Amino acid sequence: MSRKASLLIVEDDRETLKQLEWAFSKFYKVFKADNPKRAIELFEVEKPKVVLLDISLSADSEEKEGLALLEKFLSINPITKVIIVTGHDEDKTAIKAIRLGATDYYVKPIKPPELRAMVERAFHIANIELKSIANSRRKLEENRYGDIIGSCPEIKKVFNFIDSVAKTDTTVLILGESGTGKELVAKAIHEQSHRKDKPFVVINCSAIPENLLESELFGHEKGSFTGAYSQKKGKFELAEDGTIFFDEIGEIPPILQVKLLRFLQEKEFERVGGTKKYKVNARIIVATNRDLKKEMEMGNFREDLYYRLNVVSITLPPLRERGRDVILIARYLVDKYCEENKIPPKSLSREAELEIRKYNWPGNIRELENLIKRAVIMSPSNVIFPDALGFDQSTDSREILTLKEAKEEIERKYLLDALQRNKGFISRAAKDLGVSRGTFYDLLKKHNIEIDEEK
Ligand SMILES: Nc1ncnc2c1ncn2[C@@H]1O[C@H](COP(=O)(O)OP(=O)(O)OP(=O)(O)O)[C@@H](O)[C@H]1O
Ligand SMILES: [Mg+2]
Repeated sequence: MSRKASLLIVEDDRETLKQLEWAFSKFYKVFKADNPKRAIELFEVEKPKVVLLDISLSADSEEKEGLALLEKFLSINPITKVIIVTGHDEDKTAIKAIRLGATDYYVKPIKPPELRAMVERAFHIANIELKSIANSRRKLEENRYGDIIGSCPEIKKVFNFIDSVAKTDTTVLILGESGTGKELVAKAIHEQSHRKDKPFVVINCSAIPENLLESELFGHEKGSFTGAYSQKKGKFELAEDGTIFFDEIGEIPPILQVKLLRFLQEKEFERVGGTKKYKVNARIIVATNRDLKKEMEMGNFREDLYYRLNVVSITLPPLRERGRDVILIARYLVDKYCEENKIPPKSLSREAELEIRKYNWPGNIRELENLIKRAVIMSPSNVIFPDALGFDQSTDSREILTLKEAKEEIERKYLLDALQRNKGFISRAAKDLGVSRGTFYDLLKKHNIEIDEEK
């Protein structure tokens, strides 16, 4: 027989507590607490999936204590199923508790078989949720390469590419629109290589003023230019035995293109204002969101340097071409930012996911990241609805749904429209759409559409 599951019962009335223990101990491993402090201790140690919580803990205390305890349980473990037990005149408290995240409430007097059924259902839901969390974790693990999340064939190609170049020392050119993860890929190559314990040095060629770039790269000798008060090592020297990543290589001015070419050919350079030659063993990875070939053809980028850099290259696909990966990445980011901000886990509503899927993402993953960061903080509830995403309605959103998703969306819209037209009268709405009342109900259930009351 499998081990009994743990159930925590919080109840200040000793008699009731005994009665409850008697009713449940045959089926569960029961832990009893008659005050909040003990309740939290037991909750943290025994990690029960389900808690029975008497909301008005002592006759003179207010509901607040019980509600605070509920919040505490959920902040420690948000997927705990907390069943509130209330007196018959505590409707308002029960509603508050449900809003705060209680699973269900039970009104005294206690009839053990009834309450047992409720507890059993709560365990059932908890188990389903745990399984689904474990599933999505496993799915994420299968679809990631370090911090790079994705499962579409295009990104799997990128993972293979990283594997195959990481073990070599060849120069790598990474192409792709802004925010597609070029730096992340460069870092992954470094981390998979034998250089992983050595420095990974990033140079953003567009962020450093042209007159300072050379000294940034190669260092300078004391007094070599106004402001060069002391000798300084450049990024090349700092990257000894490691990897140098040039971001926005397309922005590098012609004079430095020559110097970089020389380094690539001879692995040698001089500091600004110096004559001594330095040798550095560093692997070069470069990236750009420009069309480097075109820049070369237009004469903005040296041909010899272009061919030196373009030994092996990869183009990262824009987010809008990665299919359902956008949802996978969005969910990953929601978890990540909840954890970073130390707030209980949130999740995206189905509608929010659809909006994310439909959007065109001109700023790619960086844009998605910013949006999720904001939504996680702004969203008042544990579920992130579309309004928290703050999509600018005027932006172009291209339909990139699968046929199945598109059909589902239309079906849902038809249901909502029919309900509205018929002022919520189910049989009329069903007739409107040419389906039976039963089918209509099934569809409402499928789409999670709630109706006020049966009409
Ligand atoms: N597949 C992915 N999964 C998860 N996070 C990602 C993925 N791709 C990119 N990111 C994240 O998106 C952000 C942008 O990525 P990165 O800086 O590597 O892009 P980039 O192509 O270098 O952008 P830019 O052209 O603006 O320099 C980073 O915070 C990165 O961690
Ligand atoms: Mg970048």
